[in-house]
This record gives sequence, C-alpha cells and structure tokens, in this order.
Amino acid sequence: MDVKEAVFARRSIRKFTQEPPKEEALLSMIDCARMAAFGANMQPLKFRIINDRALTDAVFDHIKWAGYLKDGAPKENERPKAYIAVFGDMNIRANGAFETDAGAAVSNMMLEAVELGLATCWLGAIDREKITGILKPAENLKLLYLLAVGYPAQESKIIDMTDGDVKYYIDNTGTVNVPKRSLEEILI
Ligand SMILES: Cc1cc2nc3c(=O)[nH]c(=O)nc-3n(C[C@H](O)[C@H](O)[C@H](O)COP(=O)(O)O)c2cc1C
Repeated sequence: MDVKEAVFARRSIRKFTQEPPKEEALLSMIDCARMAAFGANMQPLKFRIINDRALTDAVFDHIKWAGYLKDGAPKENERPKAYIAVFGDMNIRANGAFETDAGAAVSNMMLEAVELGLATCWLGAIDREKITGILKPAENLKLLYLLAVGYPAQESKIIDMTDGDVKYYIDNTGTVNVPKRSLEEILI
C-alpha cells in the first residue's frame, strides 16, 4: 500500500470485531508516532497501550462517540479491544503546547494501522479528568487523546460534500458516509 492509498483509505471506525489487536501491531503504531515531526524536536509525548479488559471497560464510560449520529456508539459486542492513550509530558514541554505534535503523532499511528489492516478512531471528546483518575499516570503526564484501535466491524466511505454540510451519516446499507470538501473548494 502506498502512502496516498493509506491516507485515502483511513476512516474513523467506531464498531469493532472482538478480536484484540496484537500488542506487536500497537507497538508498531507507537513506533511510527515516534517518527513524527515535532516542534523544536522536543518529542514531548508519551503513549500507553490500554488493552486490559477492566481498563477498556472503565474508560469506555467516559467517551462520546459520533456526535452526529443517533446510534453511532459501539454496542457491547462492538467496543474496541484496545486504546492507545496519548499524554503530554510537562517535564519536557512545561508550556503544555502539545496539540500540534499530538496531531502529527496520531496521524502517523492511524496510517500505520491502515497498513496493518486495523481501524482507528481518534477520540477527543473524552472526560479527561475521569480517565486520568482511572489510568493514574505520573503527575507530569497530561492526558491528551485516546485512539481506539481494532479490527473494523463497520464500513465507512468518503462522499463529496454538498451545501457545506459536514455531518457524516449512516446510509441504508449501514455504511458511514463522510463528506469531504473538494480540492477545488479548499484551494485559495
Ligand atoms: C481532534 C479529533 C478529535 C476527535 N474526537 C472524536 C470523538 O471524541 N468521538 C468520535 O466519535 N470521533 C472523534 N473524532 C473523529 C472525527 O469525528 C472524524 O475524524 C471525522 O468525522 C471525519 O471522519 P474520518 O476520520 O473518517 O475522515 C475526532 C477527530 C479528531 C481529529
């Protein structure tokens, strides 16, 4: 698979089979995060694999899935079997400017997941306080995002955006349709 193919194939998936992703695959994703571009090459991010049943169950309760969909959250037997938690290390970057670095790192992880036949959903609508209470990271680590990882049990495809409507929806085949702005629209 070439890079552009992976970029176009990557979709947010929110329903997963119950086959757990292999630890080796999760480590390979984190290895790709390590290679991202980082402001001033500070590399201030830390990553934690969450694939223990008690922890995946506990964090699940504090995630908001698919804001535009009524039935977008995974059901009991569709939940991700693993997450990668992304933290900013305040000991490395005391000003807490982690967002752009996290974006680059998470993107690398999502593309490596595509290559490995895995699906992901980047999760920012999370209750950071509650999840921090569950994961109990060291004090210098600030929880930024979770990335759900697993084998897809849902189809999702790109559609052309019409009338500026950004809302993704599920069609009558159960496929998620994700509107993307055209190349023409975004060129200025
Ligand atoms: C910073 C960020 C935070 C996100 N947070 C959530 C989230 O909390 N829950 C969710 O279901 N999807 C979340 N998403 C996924 C977006 O909804 C998704 O990327 C968008 O709808 C486009 O779909 P696509 O990823 O398939 O291209 C997030 C994406 C980004 C970039």
